[in-house]
Amino acid sequence: MTGGAGYIGSVLVRQLLEQGSHVRVVDRMLHGSHGLTDLAHEGNLTVRQADLRDPRAHGEMLEGVETVIHLAAIVGDKACAQDEELAVQTNWTATVALARHARAAGVRRFVFASTCSVYGEGRNDILDEESPAKPLSLYAETRWHAEQGILEIPREDGFQSVLLRFGTVYGLSPRMRFDLGVNFLAQQAVREGRVSIFGGSQWRPFVHVADIARGLVMALDAPLRSDEPPILNLGDNLENYQLRDLKEELETHVPGVRVTIETEKEDLRTYRVRFDRIEREWGFRATRRVGDGIEEVARAVRTGVIANPNDRRYYNA
Ligand SMILES: NC(=O)c1ccc[n+]([C@@H]2O[C@H](COP(=O)([O-])OP(=O)(O)OC[C@H]3O[C@@H](n4cnc5c(N)ncnc54)[C@H](O)[C@@H]3O)[C@@H](O)[C@H]2O)c1
Repeated sequence: MTGGAGYIGSVLVRQLLEQGSHVRVVDRMLHGSHGLTDLAHEGNLTVRQADLRDPRAHGEMLEGVETVIHLAAIVGDKACAQDEELAVQTNWTATVALARHARAAGVRRFVFASTCSVYGEGRNDILDEESPAKPLSLYAETRWHAEQGILEIPREDGFQSVLLRFGTVYGLSPRMRFDLGVNFLAQQAVREGRVSIFGGSQWRPFVHVADIARGLVMALDAPLRSDEPPILNLGDNLENYQLRDLKEELETHVPGVRVTIETEKEDLRTYRVRFDRIEREWGFRATRRVGDGIEEVARAVRTGVIANPNDRRYYNA
């Protein structure tokens, strides 16, 4: 797995170890390795610090590996805008090179972490896997180009790629991120007792980090149809929210919080997504809802399990 020390990776590593898998993590440790420190004693886990932009490292990364889950990336619009060349190399060119090397090395399945933000704007539609991509940021563009590059690699001779487009993730992780909307609002609600939501009418599909990890585990052997591209949105139809809906969720799960909606500062990115395909073909449904995530993050902050949500290590940029 690449990016295994990250927000999603450090949850996924634990799920894979629990089911008895052998896991090799390759990660540049851009945000530290604290998400994996308590797993040092795990016999089924090896952790290597390496940079996927170095193609010479690919041979060693892939040796003896049957399946790859590729999570390593410069994640988020802000982080990508800070160093555009690094974002393009990591999220696009090195990603496609790694997928090509994986096929050449005999990897059976290459699971790629993409994002529903490739849809960009779909004000009047509910978007599905066939909807046109309209990426509105460099981050979304690099993920979309990586998808195209991976789809060009022939899916034959035992090689299969799977592209999962995640909704916006939330929830507790050993490598916590507070630069994600739900997590940020939950910690602010606890610490300041008041929060502002900007815009409000934009749609977003939300998914709990543990459900994302469960979907990635399913992707290792789930059946794939040969008559359509191997792209699946990962989320649940019931978990599309307009951002103003978060007001009620916050008020329910953080009693006493004051939530204001600032309507002048609407952002263009809005997308409401259909998750029919993954439910129909893999039986995937979310096990957690946004309110559960707000509750668990709020509790971790309130009880001091996370002492300082402002710590730089919880932010990608
Ligand atoms: N979190 C979300 O809301 C979300 C939504 C959609 C898609 N995704 C995708 O999921 C994946 C994981 O996201 P995350 O939230 O866990 O991010 P994260 O920033 O917490 O983790 C990314 C990891 O990749 C590693 N990395 C970066 N560049 C590398 C390189 N060149 N070589 C090796 N490792 C490198 C970092 O050190 C980090 O540990 C990404 O591919 C992202 O595009 C995330």
